[in-house]
Amino acid sequence: MSVQIFPSILAADFLHLSDEIEDIGDADGIHLDIMDGLFVPNISFGPDIVKSIRSVTRLPLHSHLMIIEPWKYIERFVEAGSDLITVHLETMKQRPHLLDVIHDLDVDAGISFNPDIQIKDAFPVLESVEQVLVMSVFAGFGGQSFIEESLGRIETLASYRDRTGLTFSIAVDGGVGPANAASIIDAGADLLVAGTSVFGAKDRATRIRDLRGRS
Ligand code: DX5
Ligand code: ZN
Repeated sequence: MSVQIFPSILAADFLHLSDEIEDIGDADGIHLDIMDGLFVPNISFGPDIVKSIRSVTRLPLHSHLMIIEPWKYIERFVEAGSDLITVHLETMKQRPHLLDVIHDLDVDAGISFNPDIQIKDAFPVLESVEQVLVMSVFAGFGGQSFIEESLGRIETLASYRDRTGLTFSIAVDGGVGPANAASIIDAGADLLVAGTSVFGAKDRATRIRDLRGRS
């Protein structure tokens, strides 16, 4: 299967959100960065915006929860129309069964973790997720530069998946653009999240095609 492209709406023009969404109609889905100003030093948007986005697109919506105590809000993001909910490993210590909470609401579950977390720390939960979202920048802001060491982390994850026969998809988030998309795909990514590189492009359809590259 070819790599999937999920533009991150964080980089869109929020004053013209429905036009922006129409403009990325060729994408495979939309990535929604939910930030609470506590888990990360930035605040983005909540379930009401997700609901508005749901009302104008049929594309899959992946909500990336960068919030402390995500268990308090998961249901609201599912009700708003999310198809997949990603939580951070860093927030799971108090709630080891957080991924079950997501599955009990009949949506897919993703796990993410910042670049300073060792990949092997995530291994115990990988049989319980449909997607691993590898952060290739520290969570919190769009427009950061891709951390090169992420390529090795993606490879580690891909070989662990081969070894174990698990079926989670590998998504990569942060600093992804046409210059590094091919090497990220070669390392083992199935899905690229791209904010600045898609919404910063004049022709978003062409940019999405470029990111898919030869796949
Ligand atoms: C960072 C977010 C990313 C971000 C990606 O905390 O999780 O999804 O929006 O933005 P770019 O593609 O601009 O790095
Ligand atoms: Zn994200």
